[in-house]
Amino acid sequence: MSGAAYLRNCWYVFAWGDEIGESPLGRTIAGDPIVVFRGDDGLVALEDMCPHRFVPLSRGTVTDGVLECAYHGLRFGAGGRCVFNPLGDPPEAAKVRVYPVVQLHAAIWVWLGDPDRADVALIPDFAFLTDPARATVTGYTYARADYQLAIDNLTDLTHVQFVHRDFQASEAYPRLEHRTWQEGDDVYRAITFPDGRPAPFIAGAMDPEKRIDITMETRWSAPSLVKLTASVTEPGRPDHYLFGNYSAHLVTPEQPGTCHYFYAHSRDYGVDDPATDQRVREWQRIGFGEQDKPILEAQQARVGNRDLMKMRPVILPTDAGGVRARRILAKRILEEERGIAAEPTPEPAQ
Ligand code: FES
Ligand SMILES: [Fe+2]
Repeated sequence: MSGAAYLRNCWYVFAWGDEIGESPLGRTIAGDPIVVFRGDDGLVALEDMCPHRFVPLSRGTVTDGVLECAYHGLRFGAGGRCVFNPLGDPPEAAKVRVYPVVQLHAAIWVWLGDPDRADVALIPDFAFLTDPARATVTGYTYARADYQLAIDNLTDLTHVQFVHRDFQASEAYPRLEHRTWQEGDDVYRAITFPDGRPAPFIAGAMDPEKRIDITMETRWSAPSLVKLTASVTEPGRPDHYLFGNYSAHLVTPEQPGTCHYFYAHSRDYGVDDPATDQRVREWQRIGFGEQDKPILEAQQARVGNRDLMKMRPVILPTDAGGVRARRILAKRILEEERGIAAEPTPEPAQ
């Protein structure tokens, strides 16, 4: 287990479903090295370290429906036990930790905490990702930035005016309206650019002189899962919808200072148009890979391993969502640690 405090009784995105085919995939999730493969028993997530000489099992292959270690050929099945030894009986002690794993909403999710509490119903609703009436383009980037910096980024979308200026800057920015609210532990933010001409990224899709409202609403769910709904409406008439899209921003901590960023954009127009897919893919690559990521990585380099909130940052009204999300996450981590601490500590082995 890592030294950093992470929420463990929750689902983290490990990969997009289509990232795992015939080969196993290894990734570190909140400090835990994990390998996921598709075997005879479906999806399996195991500790990514062979108990023989500690080689990552993700270097191995799926053979006869189980995972074969690349070094000396021990094989491990869904239960985490060694099920085959090429030179004799599988050793009783040869077993690795098993993690609950599920594929839902196009993503593969792993649960790090108590397996008995791994309830699929706790995964927030991202059903739009597999809606056949929509076209969805997914992607992934790795960032040398702590996942909590990514949460700040996603819960305060005022940055689009500056970081994504070439796509999204709006003349309506000085009139920005924003609000923050909460439903259970989910934090919602909405920002509206009111009564302005279309930003560059939608100017091609409509009369560039037409005045519109653009609203971006985010729903943050612990630990770091964001659904973004963008809608273009007639000025002052939020019920008069013109067009929009959903996107998912699913951030998984790797270890302190680094994270996996899974993103997806889902539209309900031009669904069968590969050229639009390509345009979206390019926008994602530039927007996240070349615009957000360098900012977050530069910020991480300055903050280092300090806790950003303890550095007494200036808090703007537009930080309301990010501050709430950080508070909820910190509270849940603390509650979880207290819960674990309340358990009797086992006697050390003699
Ligand atoms: S290290 Fe895996 S079989 Fe030897
Ligand atoms: Fe961004």
